[in-house]
Amino acid sequence: MRRPGSIVILTGAGISAESGVDTFRDKGGIWSRVKLEDVATPEVFSRDSAMVHAFYNARRAGLAAIEPNAAHHALAKLERVHDGAVTLVTQNIDDLHERAGSRNIVHMHGELTKAFCATCGAHLLADGDLSADLVCSACGHAGGMRPDVVWFGEIPYHMDDIYKRLLAADLFVSIGTSGAVYPAAGFVAEARAAGIRTLELNLEPSDGTPLFDEARHGKASVLVPAFVTEIRAGI
Ligand code: OAD
Repeated sequence: MRRPGSIVILTGAGISAESGVDTFRDKGGIWSRVKLEDVATPEVFSRDSAMVHAFYNARRAGLAAIEPNAAHHALAKLERVHDGAVTLVTQNIDDLHERAGSRNIVHMHGELTKAFCATCGAHLLADGDLSADLVCSACGHAGGMRPDVVWFGEIPYHMDDIYKRLLAADLFVSIGTSGAVYPAAGFVAEARAAGIRTLELNLEPSDGTPLFDEARHGKASVLVPAFVTEIRAGI
């Protein structure tokens, strides 16, 4: 692939699937076992924060049992060796991109490893369980701490920054996402309208496949390292 200057890469649950993280909408995925409106809205959190905390506490604890896979490692290598900017915009709340060595990461749906204080607005590291009575280490108030994740009905983080980087890119790549959730699902159309080359790497055709200049289907652990090799070779 002709070597691009700056690259924006969107990742979704599919890139972490081979690390043992469940996707959302595949057969057996998270939303087939738990109703999203039961755990992932601000309304349910205000009704039953203990249940929502338990759901995210279990996912946070699960991070210790998983490792980055070849796709995460390949993207970290791309960031290290590529001449232009490489921005990873991830919908994932796991920390596998960081642990693989990527640094230029935008977590648009938040991070499991952080807590957000609704009282003072602080984003704090969270390595253990969160609970309704936790005291914020920044403001000292109890009762306002929540997982630092974006729920349905909330605006994803860093959107201005993401659009700025996206529209300045030469190549937009979407990896392991079904293209079912906006605004991330709209990035391909935005990129296309701006004349930016677009590539999809996903296990199977996604909702957005027809919008991409090119779509490759298969496992992220195979497609992503091959893509990085191609970029490096400038072919
Ligand atoms: P989805 O579960 O909707 O889609 C995962 C995609 O990954 C599917 O298209 C799969 O085909 C693909 N996939 C599965 N295994 C793969 C593999 N080994 N290699 C490559 N692709 C693979 O997950 P997302 O698109 O990430 O939001 O979901 C987007 C958002 O919906 C999430 O961030 C979450 C969810 O509700 C919130 O919770 C706010």
